[in-house]
Amino acid sequence: MSVLVQEQTMQINKIKENIGAEVTGVDLTRPVDEATLQRLHDALIDNVALVIRDQNFTAAQYAAAAKLFGDLMEDQNRMYLADGVPMVSVLSNRHKDTNGKPAKVANNATWHTDHTNQEFPPKFTCLYPVALPDSGGGTAVCNMRAAYEALPQDLKDRITDMKTENTLISSARMKTANPDIVRAQKEAKTPPMIQPLVRTHPERSTKAIWFHKSKTERVIGMEPQETQDFLEELLEIAIKPEFTYVHEYTLGDMLMVDNRSAMHKAGFDYDHSQHRMVYRALVRGERPA
Ligand SMILES: [Fe+2]
Repeated sequence: MSVLVQEQTMQINKIKENIGAEVTGVDLTRPVDEATLQRLHDALIDNVALVIRDQNFTAAQYAAAAKLFGDLMEDQNRMYLADGVPMVSVLSNRHKDTNGKPAKVANNATWHTDHTNQEFPPKFTCLYPVALPDSGGGTAVCNMRAAYEALPQDLKDRITDMKTENTLISSARMKTANPDIVRAQKEAKTPPMIQPLVRTHPERSTKAIWFHKSKTERVIGMEPQETQDFLEELLEIAIKPEFTYVHEYTLGDMLMVDNRSAMHKAGFDYDHSQHRMVYRALVRGERPA
């Protein structure tokens, strides 16, 4: 297939009014011209979540496809990586922790955005399923700029300038968290990363609610447990079905999320005796503002 044919056959259709678009007729293992790439990039930012259908990637091809959208960054958990492709991490319900127990990933089952404890968190999270249960196990994505806009004005005013302190795992969550992550946090010498609770999109100037509750040690001015309760309450008010899209995967889907406008969570609504395995690639972002 020539570049020109790809450009002519690619179609982008909205999935829901407030979130999601589906792309067909493009093969990201083939050369992609600038105009096509720009259309994909704009569709991702406009629609927050983008589903590029009918891909067929090895881990290395997947990393190359994600890299079309920017420089990749390492997953901070270096335990589960694709063979020979360190920029692709593997999310699987069959991972074991260093104690040989099923690795706890419950943090992924609650609304969050990735790697908030880093100075330059990923702007795009890219997911590609390799093994799927018969049903369930989708990824839910919420348009958090729409969620922010819909907040009551007094709550908007209250949270707009709030700052969060971010670590690998918050002290309030340590008792129930993955022991490897707790150990890494205890050994970490890095100070908490201060982030805005409401961030401004660098390309659109829109504001979005943006946090990872399990990584939030505290909202500045609050105690740790008070912070957890406050963030839970904020999620209950902010996340609405009309702003949310649950992507139920089909093999071949590359799901991309613009993290600067989104929070997401993994679905645990599947038969856990079945294998769910997803490749993840992270595109490096800018300093949240
Ligand atoms: Fe995530």
